[in-house]
Amino acid sequence: MIVVRSSRGGVLKVDGFRIRVVERLALPSIWARLKAIRGAGWNTFLLRADDVFLDMLTDSGVNAMSDRQLAAMITAQDAYAGGRSYYELVDAVREVFGMDYVLPVHQGRAAEHLLAKVFVRPGMVVITNYHFTTSKAHVELAGGEMIEIPVPQALDTTSDYPFKGDMDVSRLEELISSMRGRVAYVRLEAVANLLGGQPVSMKNIRLVRELCDKFNVPLVLDASMIDWNAYFIKEREPGYASKSLAEIVREMAGYADIIYMSARKAPAVRGGLIATNKREYYEKLVVLLPVYEGFPSYGGMSVKELAAMAVGLKEMVDESLVGSELELIRYVVEELDKRRVPVVRPPGGLGVHLDAARFLEHLPRNLYPAASLTGALYLASGVRAMERGTMSMDRARDGREVYADLELVRIAFPRRTYTRSHAEYLVDRILWLYENRDAVKGLKWVYEPPVLRFFLGRLEDIGGWGEELARRYERDLGEY
Ligand code: F0G
Repeated sequence: MIVVRSSRGGVLKVDGFRIRVVERLALPSIWARLKAIRGAGWNTFLLRADDVFLDMLTDSGVNAMSDRQLAAMITAQDAYAGGRSYYELVDAVREVFGMDYVLPVHQGRAAEHLLAKVFVRPGMVVITNYHFTTSKAHVELAGGEMIEIPVPQALDTTSDYPFKGDMDVSRLEELISSMRGRVAYVRLEAVANLLGGQPVSMKNIRLVRELCDKFNVPLVLDASMIDWNAYFIKEREPGYASKSLAEIVREMAGYADIIYMSARKAPAVRGGLIATNKREYYEKLVVLLPVYEGFPSYGGMSVKELAAMAVGLKEMVDESLVGSELELIRYVVEELDKRRVPVVRPPGGLGVHLDAARFLEHLPRNLYPAASLTGALYLASGVRAMERGTMSMDRARDGREVYADLELVRIAFPRRTYTRSHAEYLVDRILWLYENRDAVKGLKWVYEPPVLRFFLGRLEDIGGWGEELARRYERDLGEY
C-alpha cells in the first residue's frame, strides 16, 4: 500500500497498483447453487470453478501476477540444467532472505516431504507453533509426530492478542529438554494458517531461536506467507513501524536454519523452494531432489515458474504491492464483528475466518459445523470458502474422530484479486446467513477417504436442509 496522510486526519492506505487484465464473473442462481453443492458432496473442493461466483477457496495458485512476472515468464531461458532463470531465483533468494543455498521444488508440500525424509525418523517429533495439514501429514508419514504449542490466546477466537501465531516458549523449553535427541526440528509457520491467518512476532522468533541454539535443534521457518507476517510486525510490533518490509523479512529469515515456502502463495502462482545457509543441510537435501522433484536447477517446475518466482520474491517485499487484501480482510472482519457475527479476531492474513462453533452453536461437533457453514455460505452467496475444522483433521489410528481446536470457515482473499464491492457483497450475504443459521442442520459422510479426507470426501445435508435454506433465500432475496 502507498500510505499517505489523510486531509481529515489519520492515514490513507492506497493500492500501489492498477488492474489491467480482468476476468468476467457469473453469479449462479440459488437453485443452480443448491444443485452444484449437492453434486459436490457439500465439499467446496469438489465444486466446478464455473459454478462459483467469488472463488475464495484459497490464495494458492490464484493470486494476480504482475506485468513484470508475466514478462519474465516469456523471457525465461529453457534449459534442463544451469539455466539463467535458476540463477535469477538464487540471486532473489540471496537478496530477500540472505540465504545462499537454494533448492527449487514443485510446491510447498514437496519441501515438507524432503525435510521429513532428511530429518524425521520413527519416534521423533517436530515441535511447531501450529500444524498445517500437509506439514503434519509428511511428518507422520515419516513415522514422526507433530506437537503443537501455540500461545493459549490463539485458541480463543475472541481474543485480540496481536500475535496469535506465537509459540509458547516456556512449553518449548520443557519439551525440548525432556525429549533430547528426539526433536527433529522446531517449525515456525509465519502467519499460522489454521489459527486463522495469525502472525508470529519477531520477539517470539528470537526467543525460539535462542532455545534452538541452547539445545542445538534446527529451526525451520515456513515462509509461505512471510510477506503478510512482515506487514503485521510493521503494523503491530513496537520498534518496527519505520522498518521496511524487506528489512523485516530479512531479519525473520536470519533467525532460521532453513526456510521453505509454497511459492503458490506470495511469490508466484506455482512452485516452492527450500533455502539455507548451512552446507551440511543443503548436501543432505540436494541429493533427494533428482529422485523426487527434478534436477536441482529446476526442481520439477518449468523455467517459467522459476522466472516468475524470482521476480515475485522481490515483489513480495515491495511496499506498494503488499497489503491490499489485508485491508479488505480487516474491513470484512470489522463489519461482521460490529454486528456480533462470530469471526476470528484480530483481522489476520490469508482471509476472513468465521468461527463456525459459535456461528452454528446449535450443531454438535460430530455434525461438522465448519463444513456445514462452508456449504451454507456457498449456497447463500456463491462464494467458495474452505472448511478448516474437524473435517480437515483425519481420524486417529483407532478410527476415533479428532475434533479440531477451532471450527473455522476460511474465506481466503487472494492477493490483488477482489475489490471492495466483493467485500461488501460478502458481508451482506454472511449477515443474511447468520439470521437464518437455524436452518443449517449438519452433514454426514457419504464417502470418507483415509488420509487428508477434506480434499476428496463427500457428505450430505442431514434431512435435506439445503432445500429449506434455498427456499428462504429466494423468499427474502430472489433467485440471485
Ligand atoms: N505451508 C503453508 C503455511 C501453507 O499454507 C501451504 C499451503 C503449504 C505449506 C503447502 O504448500 O500447497 O504449495 O504444497 N496452503 C494452501 C492453502 C494449500 O490453501 O492454505 P503447497
